[in-house]
Amino acid sequence: MNLTIIGAGFVGLVTAAVFADFKNQVWVVDNDKDKIKKLSSGKIPFYEPGLEKLIVKNFKSDRLKFTTDYSQAIPNAEIIFICVGTPNKDGEIDLGYIKASTKSVAQNLKRPVIVVIKSTVPPGINKELEKWMKKYTQVSFDMASVPEFLSEGRAIENTLRSYRVVIGAEKKSVVEKLLKLHHPISGERLICNSTTAQMIKYAANTFLPTKISFANAIAILCDQFGADVKKVMLGVGMDKRIGPDFLGAGVGYGGSCFPKDVAALIKLAQKVNYNFKILKAVEQTNQEQINYFVQKVIRLCDGSVKDKILVILGLAFKPGTSDMREASSIYIIKALKKKGAKLRVCDPVAIPTAKKIISGVKFFTNPYKALKRAEVLVLVTEWKEYQKLNFKKIKKLMKRPIVVDGRNVYNQKQLEKLGFIYEGIGR
Ligand code: UGA
Repeated sequence: MNLTIIGAGFVGLVTAAVFADFKNQVWVVDNDKDKIKKLSSGKIPFYEPGLEKLIVKNFKSDRLKFTTDYSQAIPNAEIIFICVGTPNKDGEIDLGYIKASTKSVAQNLKRPVIVVIKSTVPPGINKELEKWMKKYTQVSFDMASVPEFLSEGRAIENTLRSYRVVIGAEKKSVVEKLLKLHHPISGERLICNSTTAQMIKYAANTFLPTKISFANAIAILCDQFGADVKKVMLGVGMDKRIGPDFLGAGVGYGGSCFPKDVAALIKLAQKVNYNFKILKAVEQTNQEQINYFVQKVIRLCDGSVKDKILVILGLAFKPGTSDMREASSIYIIKALKKKGAKLRVCDPVAIPTAKKIISGVKFFTNPYKALKRAEVLVLVTEWKEYQKLNFKKIKKLMKRPIVVDGRNVYNQKQLEKLGFIYEGIGR
């Protein structure tokens, strides 16, 4: 099929690369000239395992093309995917990019198409968007919603082997065409109307952080009662009705999705006079978790981190990405810096991103270099390389052997045997 993807961000590029690989002809449109130029020379603007390779492969075989020009990419399209950002603006969902891109699409339509909204948008918005687009075109089009469920760092794998494909559309012919396009992707199919599809995305993206905040709250109790939250959640997750995923206690959730979507659903609920108390508590628990962790670090430093060298391992909001949007590391660093700590921060891929948003710290890519004469190792992002560190070597490097494990990944007994003072979260 001839497809056009609007928005060369994370969702847009993954969607484009995967569909091009299924032998569709794909155009990607983005207003950012620099980005399009880089993409056309085979460079992607962020780190995502496997994506660059897939893009280059399909670009070379002429199935994937990039442009800033809507008039080049729209006229022949059979399906157009809107994958632009819907950022938070003062707690409200900013539909600016959605409005601008759908207007440009409408102005360039030459034949009937399906316009699929992939961006996370307020449920029920398709009717409004349809009216909006009709102002700019006489050509007929159908609207649909196919929400995105992929996670950063595992995007290709998530897309190819997804849990489900949700197709929200009002017309049977649209559903059939979208089912055909998604045929090579595994996972269950759920067909519903577009409003329901959009609500599924919000419900999923707020339920997962609810699980995380719940685990974090239980972890605080585990610290007090002397239980091990890892085992507790393992036991809880063995119940199939609950499931084992997203019960990992730690320094809280971050990223470009969960914090934004939790805040957005609270606001959307307010608009229809519903006080979404559960989500307010999820948000608050997540914010307080940072403080809980920082206090733990300070306590382990005998009550003060002033002028002490602390090493933060991991800056990205999770492993496998260079993304630092709403990363817990930012807030932890800010709080520790305020208390006078001398910070060395380390990440395998996020240092260039970090340099743009963090100042007053020393940047490292090699953890061993960072740990020389340090007093505390603070694990914030559980990169594989940080899970497999040589602690015998580290013991010799550090001035004081304190490890604060914000992701509960280290073996407490082994570290204590080596002479480290160890604390995780809820262990
Ligand atoms: C999330 C969802 O998982 C995807 O399904 C969704 O498509 C995506 O948002 C989106 O809306 O685009 P993502 O933000 O990439 O994906 O990252 P996750 O893997 O969900 O992790 C989010 C945060 O939760 C990370 O900071 C992670 O460290 C934290 N987390 C995750 C925990 O603290 N504990 C856990 O057990 C799991």
